[in-house]
Order: sequence, then C-alpha cells, then structure tokens
Amino acid sequence: MADPYPTCWLNGSFLPLSEARVSPLDRGFLFADGAYEVVPVHRGRPFRLREHLERFDRSLRELRIRNPLSTAGWAEVTELLAKAARAPELLVYLQVTRGAEHGRNHLFPPASVQPTAFAFVSPYPQPAPAVLQAGLAGVTLEDTRWARCDIKSVALLANVLLRQEAQDRGGAEALLTRDCQVTEGSSSTIFIVRAGTLLTPPNDHSILPGTTRDAVLELAAGWLPVEIRSFSVEEMRAADEVWIASAGRSVLPITSIDGQRVGSGVPGPRWQAMHSRLQQHLDAIASQPALEHDA
Ligand code: PDD
Repeated sequence: MADPYPTCWLNGSFLPLSEARVSPLDRGFLFADGAYEVVPVHRGRPFRLREHLERFDRSLRELRIRNPLSTAGWAEVTELLAKAARAPELLVYLQVTRGAEHGRNHLFPPASVQPTAFAFVSPYPQPAPAVLQAGLAGVTLEDTRWARCDIKSVALLANVLLRQEAQDRGGAEALLTRDCQVTEGSSSTIFIVRAGTLLTPPNDHSILPGTTRDAVLELAAGWLPVEIRSFSVEEMRAADEVWIASAGRSVLPITSIDGQRVGSGVPGPRWQAMHSRLQQHLDAIASQPALEHDA
C-alpha cells in the first residue's frame, strides 16, 4: 500500500501527518466511536463529493455525534488536501469521533467535549492491469457485522476479520451472506448480471448505501435493465457476471467465487462496457468547470 501524502488536517489545522496527535482517551480509540468517509479524486476532481458528505453527515446523525463542519467546510478540507497532494488520482479519508473525555465512560460525554475531526489523503490504489484482465477472486463468508451496516462507522473489526479471512483463502474480497442472501462485500457493494439484467440488493440496514453503487445504477440507466432486489448465494454463483463497487476499487469484476468460475471465468462484456462508461463519465466531469460537480 502506498504511503499517504505528508499533509493532513486535524481539528481545523493543516499540519504534517507525522506531527498529528490525538489523545489515547479519544473515544475513537477506546470505543471505535466515530464515523468516516473515503472520497475518491479522479482526474483532479472529487467524485460524488456531495453524496459522500451527505452520507457522512447522516452517519454522524445516526450516531448522535455533532458534525463539526458544514458540507461546504468538509468540501474545502477535501479540496485543499487534494490540492496539497498535487496528484490527480487520490483517496481522501475523513473521520469524526465523539472526542476525548478525562476518563472512560460508556455514556456520551458532556456536550462540552468537542468531536475529533481528522482527514488525510493517499494515492489512489489503481487496479493492476492483471486485475482488469482476469478479475478478482471472491470468497463467500457469513456476514458477522452488526445490525446497522448502513452507518459508515469506524468500528470495522468484523469487516477487517472478514477481509483477512477472504485473503487467507486466496480471495480479494469477502462476499457476505445473511440467511443465504447476499448483502455486500467487506468493503464494497455487490452487483450481479443475470439474463441481461443488473441486480443489486436494496439499501437497508444490512448494507452501506454505496456512492459508487449509485453511480453504476445511473450509468446503467437506458442501457442495462436494473432490478433492485435481494438475491441468494446460489443465484450469485449462477450469475453471468459479478461485480464489486467502492470508492477505493471503482467497479471490478469477480471472476471466481470459492474457487468456482463465474460465467466464463473472465471479466464479462457488461462489466467491460460499464468500466468504459465510468471512465468516459470521469473524463466528461474533468472537462467541465470545477464548481458544477463539487459539493
Ligand atoms: N468502503 N460497503 C462497505 C462495507 C464499504 O466499506 C464500502 C466502502 C462500500 C462502498 O461504498 P462507496 O461506493 O461509497 O465507497 C460498501 C470504503 C471505500 C473504505 O472503507 O475504504
């Protein structure tokens, strides 16, 4: 994994990441009590920034954590960090925790305790050419996460364990199942193509409402029929194509599941077309004046 860029933002100030300090009593550290966002920057433009910042605000509201910045404030932090990085393809990470008290207390701290707000930026992890040519291996695993996966909480322990388990079994993503129905990946939403129709599970408490998922659905409009409905593991295994989507991985094809080929075992024609539509969409955004597409 590439090193982050040297400038970060902490509680209102830009400073070297190597000098940023947070209290060990921060509730993010003690309780994983916070929310985060990962905003991709493509061709120098934050992609779907407004949607990311709205989801961030919603996550914080659901956790009853005060959002210390307005949407415009976060947009500015994101833009300035991206500018400081001086690279066109980036991931900007934003996080807010419930802050640090003078001790450890399961209850919410007094209202005077300020949330801790942090942001840093990394190079975008471009998929290797071999991944685009051959696709990724998926591993099905029981979804062991909590009952509010719609909140982008920093409490990612189950996601981390699941992703590691998938990797230990030779996979690049854990494809999660609850009651034999597919929910999402450990850090991605999921799509299948069956009989020419694109399917993805509905947004509810069992999945994160993905920003890349929404972009894919918009790009499918008028071209690929879409059905938003749950599907079983067996239906996924029998699909012509399986894709995962996230800010950090864009849209990538899953070409094997638990060692068995998906469809013909290579990235399918619908994925190829969706991938190029997405690239064209990013090119079109980059060719327009900046303010129209930013938050
Ligand atoms: N994760 N589901 C989960 C559990 C995720 O963690 C993510 C993204 C997604 C996809 O959402 P989006 O398309 O808005 O990125 C779905 C980020 C990238 C991460 O944790 O790094």
